[in-house]
Amino acid sequence: MLRMKNLDRRSFLSLGAAAAASTALPLHAAPSASAGNVKFVFFTDTHIEPELNGGEGCAKAFARIKSLKPEFCIQGGDHCIDLTSQPRERSMMLIDLYKKTEHILDVPVHQVIGNHDVLGTVSKSGVSHSDPLWGKKVYYEKFDKHTYYSWDHKGYHFIVLDTIDINPANGDYRPRIDADQVKWLTDDMAKVKAGTPIVVSCHVPIVTGVPAYVKTDYPYWRVENAYEILPMFTNHNVIAVLQGHTHVNEVVYWHNIPFITSGAVCGNWWKGSHWGTPEGFTVVELAGGRVRWRYETYGFKTVSPEADPYPVVEHPVVPGSRPFSNESPL
Ligand SMILES: [Fe+2]
Repeated sequence: MLRMKNLDRRSFLSLGAAAAASTALPLHAAPSASAGNVKFVFFTDTHIEPELNGGEGCAKAFARIKSLKPEFCIQGGDHCIDLTSQPRERSMMLIDLYKKTEHILDVPVHQVIGNHDVLGTVSKSGVSHSDPLWGKKVYYEKFDKHTYYSWDHKGYHFIVLDTIDINPANGDYRPRIDADQVKWLTDDMAKVKAGTPIVVSCHVPIVTGVPAYVKTDYPYWRVENAYEILPMFTNHNVIAVLQGHTHVNEVVYWHNIPFITSGAVCGNWWKGSHWGTPEGFTVVELAGGRVRWRYETYGFKTVSPEADPYPVVEHPVVPGSRPFSNESPL
């Protein structure tokens, strides 16, 4: 894990402002008379495991989400601690644990594939390439038969993208949206009636500022071919892009489209906050074609704390923002 030392107060407040921006209530896009009211929860990076109270943590988060009475949820990927490098038997146990725990939500859940949701692509797992569940096949079998898809609801068009490009020959992973999917997305968006508000979800961010926050050599923070996707977004009424993967609560705007990255249910893999973002999820409300959102924590206490280079932003100096509150109504 990469760490930053000697963080001064100014940097701390700047991060607070960035985090707070994602929990203020920005209004985006032109009002749409035909678009109704929708409340849903985008939660991501559950990384469930029996260790470190990860199972109990997910159960607690899901109970809190259920209490908010969303119409549905979107799971932003990385359901289990990791399926790429674990022995097959343990991966099956982790999937069963996740699915059993997800029942607590008791609402429809739209799934997004994450980079840890593919089976046995790292050789140390011992999973054979010929295994019927190898790679994304486990996802099709256990989570959703599609990794990219769309649906319409109350005047909005929802799109889920697959940002996990696995080389079928050797399991190598790149954060990309492959050519077939770019074509599908082009066709899908072309069919959407002009002006319809669109909400996109994906695992690896299409736009993020995360590499700026720490010294990092990790090459997979963002979708490599975002340049192929962004013109489509800016040519349509995309009102929000919901993202996971970084475990950092953040928003970056591109051409007035908010790219909202949600903090993780597991925080720092069940070891406390991650670069100032505690364990939590993002509550989203849509009304008349506009969007507002907030990040909520749920009170998980790690049993194995790891030092966080950024303090948790509890009271940032940003007027009108209330990040990480689980009391303030939208
Ligand atoms: Fe993750």
